Amino acid sequence: MVQSDYIVIKAKEDGVNVIGLTRGDDTKFHHTEKLDDGEVMVAQFTEHTSAMKIRGEAEIHTANGMITSEGKK
Ligand code: TRP
Repeated sequence: MVQSDYIVIKAKEDGVNVIGLTRGDDTKFHHTEKLDDGEVMVAQFTEHTSAMKIRGEAEIHTANGMITSEGKK
C-alpha cells in the first residue's frame, strides 16, 4: 500500500485542471478535476495515482515547499 503526504492545490484562476496519472506499466490520465479561482483540492498519491499534472495558474503546496504553476500568457 502506498501512503503519502497530502498535497494541496489552490487555483489562482478559473478552470485549473488537476489530472491524476496512473501508477504502473502504463501512465495514463485517469481523473481530471476542474477547480475555479480560489478553490482548493487536497490530494494524496495512492496505489492508483503516481503523478499529477496541473494545468493553469495554481499554488501547489507540498512537504517539500510551495511552487506555483503558471497559466497561459
Ligand atoms: N481514485 C483516485 C486514487 O485513489 C483518487 C485520487 C487520489 C486522485 N489522488 C488523486 C485523482 C490525485 C486525481 C488526482 O488514486
